Amino acid sequence: MEHFDREQFRFFLKDRIRTMIDFSQTDQHQGIAPPPIQKPYHPDARIITLPQLSEWQAIRSVDLLHAIAHRRSRRTYHEQALTLEELAFLLWATQGIQQTAGHGTAFRTVPSAGCRHALETYLCIMHVSGVEQGIYRYLPVEHALLEVSVDKTVSHRIVNATYHQSFTGTAAAAFVWAAVPYRMEWRYGLAAHKVIALDAGHVCQNLYLACAAIGCGCCAVAAYDQERMDELIQVDGKDEFTVYLASVGKVD
Ligand SMILES: Cc1cc2nc3c(=O)[nH]c(=O)nc-3n(C[C@H](O)[C@H](O)[C@H](O)COP(=O)(O)O)c2cc1C
Repeated sequence: MEHFDREQFRFFLKDRIRTMIDFSQTDQHQGIAPPPIQKPYHPDARIITLPQLSEWQAIRSVDLLHAIAHRRSRRTYHEQALTLEELAFLLWATQGIQQTAGHGTAFRTVPSAGCRHALETYLCIMHVSGVEQGIYRYLPVEHALLEVSVDKTVSHRIVNATYHQSFTGTAAAAFVWAAVPYRMEWRYGLAAHKVIALDAGHVCQNLYLACAAIGCGCCAVAAYDQERMDELIQVDGKDEFTVYLASVGKVD
């Protein structure tokens, strides 16, 4: 840490990097094809179909005024499982695709700098009806879950990976957002990293509001052990790594 001073960290928050970048050198301007909007997966992987918006029975509409008025960080959850429909709603609210736009872009329910959407959503599932405990990845294009690994120790492991914040293990599920930085760097070079962090804030706020609208509670978590969390969701920690997470469960 002695190599860094406060100004260097503040520099990251300011809009100075943009002025130092030669945008004609970015991969986009070099004519390199954009990376895929979603991380590819093995064709034999196990996929769990999620209820589509048009099929939702319990969630027909939600009250935004109520959701904003009641949004708080909640760390105590009922043991009651989330339904698959509730999980589908929360995933759609945080990363759902509204419209594909060609040229490697898709508009989603959250904004993203340059519509690059450099985040993947992993789930640590502890109590969701009909889904075994373990690690999953949301596939926004298919609106489905990809099984990463069935793991009965997931609750114990996430508590360990979050410096023993025990509520992460008593939640029904934890949303873990991993950045794939190249998706943003392709267009913005070194100016990518600040906006990835800004994007993550939008995603988590939608999760807070969507939870408040359906009787769930949520708590953002930025204090986690980088290596343990990356190992838990099975990403390499280099081209893809955890940047943020949030626990979710049923509340009063
Ligand atoms: C970026 C960010 C990181 C956070 N990290 C944690 C965390 O690691 N553990 C935790 O218990 N709460 C965490 N929180 C929740 C805050 O403690 C909480 O938002 C704050 O106390 C205000 O309470 P409220 O959300 O109910 O308004 C985080 C919130 C944000 C926005």
